Amino acid sequence: MDRENSSTNNNSRIRELISRLDTEHRLSLSEYEEVLKNRTEEDEKFAQELAVKWRKKIYGNGVYTRGLIEFTNYCKNNCHYCGIQSSNHEVERYRLTKEDILSCCEEGYRLGFRTFVLQGGEDPYFTDERMVDIIKSIRKNYPDCAITISIGERTKESYKAFFDAGADRYLLRHETADREHYNILHPKELSFDKRRECLGYLKEIGYQVGCGFMVGSPGQTYHTLAEDLYFIQEFQPEMCGIGPFIPQHSTIFADKKQGELSETLFLLSLLRLIKPNLLIPSTTALGTIHPRGREMGIDAGANVVMPNLSPVSVRKKYALYDNKICTGDESAQCRSCLNQRMSSIGYELVTNRGDIKK
Ligand code: 5AD
Ligand code: FES
Repeated sequence: MDRENSSTNNNSRIRELISRLDTEHRLSLSEYEEVLKNRTEEDEKFAQELAVKWRKKIYGNGVYTRGLIEFTNYCKNNCHYCGIQSSNHEVERYRLTKEDILSCCEEGYRLGFRTFVLQGGEDPYFTDERMVDIIKSIRKNYPDCAITISIGERTKESYKAFFDAGADRYLLRHETADREHYNILHPKELSFDKRRECLGYLKEIGYQVGCGFMVGSPGQTYHTLAEDLYFIQEFQPEMCGIGPFIPQHSTIFADKKQGELSETLFLLSLLRLIKPNLLIPSTTALGTIHPRGREMGIDAGANVVMPNLSPVSVRKKYALYDNKICTGDESAQCRSCLNQRMSSIGYELVTNRGDIKK
């Protein structure tokens, strides 16, 4: 077979797999790997068009927003990729008080947010009791808002206590669905099985659950990425957050390559095809590697943005990776910035809880 022919055949095979994903919303592990390995730019475009078709059908031109409150950068863990790991002594640590958090919510509500995401490192100061108190106060003051928690691994009892206090959603990225790759990204104290167990608890309790992974993290291969997609297909989360890996200068991955824009966008499109109603954020990390990254993410099939609502005074301290956007004075009003960005591509931010459409 001559070269041209072989590439045409290859191309139609990948298109066939993407079309099957579009109609059946599932592929085998090896088919995912094949798609990732052999795709061309045209295949990416093809997947993008199908993804946008689904997103428009289910969510129209509306983009959901969440007000992100990064309320503590203390963390007991040492994930190798992460800038706020406990062994990084360059980091100036902070915690917001309950009053600080409530004033973020107040400001956020005024701006049009109807979901608050409380995100933080694994900080032992925030005991179940303290978290429950904060969640109950937000629930009481904002009965029409969704509360999302993202503070890592806890016991099943803790997750249940937060849920009973009024939390609706929980974000816990699985980070990678490959055990060996997990052990490349994390120190030995952290366990792949434990992570999976936590995700299972969250689902069991009744949360809307978000998982996710980084694109282009050290040691990632097409095979491990295929495992991520297959895991998502089986786990059926309500949300999935992905963004490029971006090296942070004081971690052991400081010299590693950052994740690619086009690969991240292609994966966003595939996620939309795997689960057409999935809540998919166009992440800050994507906006960090390209000035229009978040717009491109929406154009690839994402339907959520999570602007920063944290006080500007602490934003630079929540540096998971280098050059993170929205940390300077000029970004005090991320919501209106994102509003403009979304309308520039024909979308609009909506003011509602932004629940998954069934
Ligand atoms: N680059 C990109 N994303 C990162 N995260 C942590 N460190 C980095 C990094 N260096 C992601 C992880 C984590 C989420 C909060 O941020 O996936 O779960
Ligand atoms: Fe934060 Fe634009 S979204 S400054």
